[in-house]
Amino acid sequence: MSTIILGDGPLGTAIEAALRARGEPATIRGRPRSGRHDPRNLTRTEPTVDVIVDASRAEAVLANVEAGLAAGCRRFVIATTGWADDRAAVASRLRGSAAAAVVAPNLAMGAAVFLRLVEEASSLAAAIGGFDPSVVEWHRRAKADRPSGTARELVRRIAPHLPIAVVEVAVVRSGAMPGLHLVGLDSPSETIELRLTARDRSGYAAGALAAIDWLRAQPRQPGLHPFDTVVDDLIAARRHAAPESPAQPAA
Ligand SMILES: NC(=O)c1ccc[n+]([C@@H]2O[C@H](COP(=O)([O-])OP(=O)(O)OC[C@H]3O[C@@H](n4cnc5c(N)ncnc54)[C@H](OP(=O)(O)O)[C@@H]3O)[C@@H](O)[C@H]2O)c1
Repeated sequence: MSTIILGDGPLGTAIEAALRARGEPATIRGRPRSGRHDPRNLTRTEPTVDVIVDASRAEAVLANVEAGLAAGCRRFVIATTGWADDRAAVASRLRGSAAAAVVAPNLAMGAAVFLRLVEEASSLAAAIGGFDPSVVEWHRRAKADRPSGTARELVRRIAPHLPIAVVEVAVVRSGAMPGLHLVGLDSPSETIELRLTARDRSGYAAGALAAIDWLRAQPRQPGLHPFDTVVDDLIAARRHAAPESPAQPAA
């Protein structure tokens, strides 16, 4: 079994390195000269490719998935952000070919926890009343999309509880920062701050590998699967495997 990564930027490179580090063959492809990947070229050098990871650019995702399907691949991890306009078309192509994809604006495990904490904090703050939300994100200067996919996802999770819109996200593009997100819940007397800081891209790569393993573990429902499903299954498996906590001594 082998993986092709479409996208030769920092994320694709980190995922390739993580796959190779655990002894798996992986091939990385950059932007095709013709503008579109030829399905025959996707499997010619790696005939046993069973997963395609997209880590390219928003506008390339739909064409990349179509090329992967035409090449016979039925498992995808879509790490690229900013392709919401093509989401319905991607889902439809996958369902039409009985293929499944794990999708996430942020594949890091810490981010999965962070998103849930923000959702819960927003719900609690809304119930108490008087809190106003804010989102700040900081990434390296060259990052293509703004605000980040993670910031959009934060807004999506806060908005049912407290008023906030994507246009209100404060965006910083500077230096080499791989990803910082700061959520504030401000009231007249105090401020709650929840912060997620990526130190490097290894967390994203580890999440991509977890998504690949989840897809390989058993046949999945055709269509798109949020990374949260992968995380839920992982948490359930780890809790199940954890030893029973020792009995409390009698009083
Ligand atoms: N889900 C997550 O956890 C996560 C984490 C970090 C980043 N991301 C997202 O993942 C994507 C990639 O991140 P990055 O930092 O590596 O971005 P990047 O620096 O923009 O790199 C993307 C690379 O993909 C190439 N590319 C463009 N079209 C392609 C195609 N059709 N097939 C293959 N490669 C193609 C680009 O080439 P050109 O320069 O010629 O366009 C570029 O070299 C971005 O959307 C980013 O926001 C997601």
